Amino acid sequence: MLIAQISDTHILAKSSDRPEAGPRAEDLRRCIADINSLKPLPNVVIHSGDTVQTGTISDYKHLTELLAPLRSPIYLIPGNRDHHDNFRATFNRTNSNATFLHYVIDDFPVRLVALDSINPGQRKGVFCAERLAWLDDTLGAAPTRPTVLFMHHPPFDVGPRYIDGYRNLADRDALTAVVARHPQVRRLVCGHCHRSSLRAWAGTEASTMASVARDVREGVDVARFDDTPMYQLHAVPETGIVTTQTRLVLN
Ligand SMILES: [Fe+2]
Repeated sequence: MLIAQISDTHILAKSSDRPEAGPRAEDLRRCIADINSLKPLPNVVIHSGDTVQTGTISDYKHLTELLAPLRSPIYLIPGNRDHHDNFRATFNRTNSNATFLHYVIDDFPVRLVALDSINPGQRKGVFCAERLAWLDDTLGAAPTRPTVLFMHHPPFDVGPRYIDGYRNLADRDALTAVVARHPQVRRLVCGHCHRSSLRAWAGTEASTMASVARDVREGVDVARFDDTPMYQLHAVPETGIVTTQTRLVLN
């Protein structure tokens, strides 16, 4: 199974006069064209949040136009820049939980679990007791299926700028403890810090990726890659061992 991950596209409304609006749309457009050119096509594309910049319906309308050419199904979770209600209204199929925007995708050999780490209006991550219980139950329901989690806020530090990224650090630690009880989890993939990283976490492994929006990317050599959008590909065979490559979009 092949998973393409995009993150932190920070799309603005078509009518926006902000200078970054056009380049961000172009970054996403180029990534999607590249994903569509892959052979084989990814089974699925996941977006790990900060899909838009200001959370308005106009932002989401532009985002959905940009995503429309994708030839693979896409699943999204919100970031702190997203607006919960507008996100839910736009991506209605994610509405599997009355309060939170998390859900399970059971259609593929690898089980995908989308996690909502957002409290509206807050920049930092949240993972309350109710979400913990949902995750524990969800993972407990399929203990032998290789599983990949995706969420916006990494529940660990990613230096040098993303430190203590949860409102209550106890949330972060409790999330780590729950995942550690479910060894079928092969990877957690995140966004938010706009920087690529990979580390051991909760008895499994966890990664973050550079933002698709080039103007807010971190940890990328600007002199060499200023004109190069990037995204990630995660190959997950039946063994459940995840191999990740960063894909450079050169066209
Ligand atoms: Fe972001």
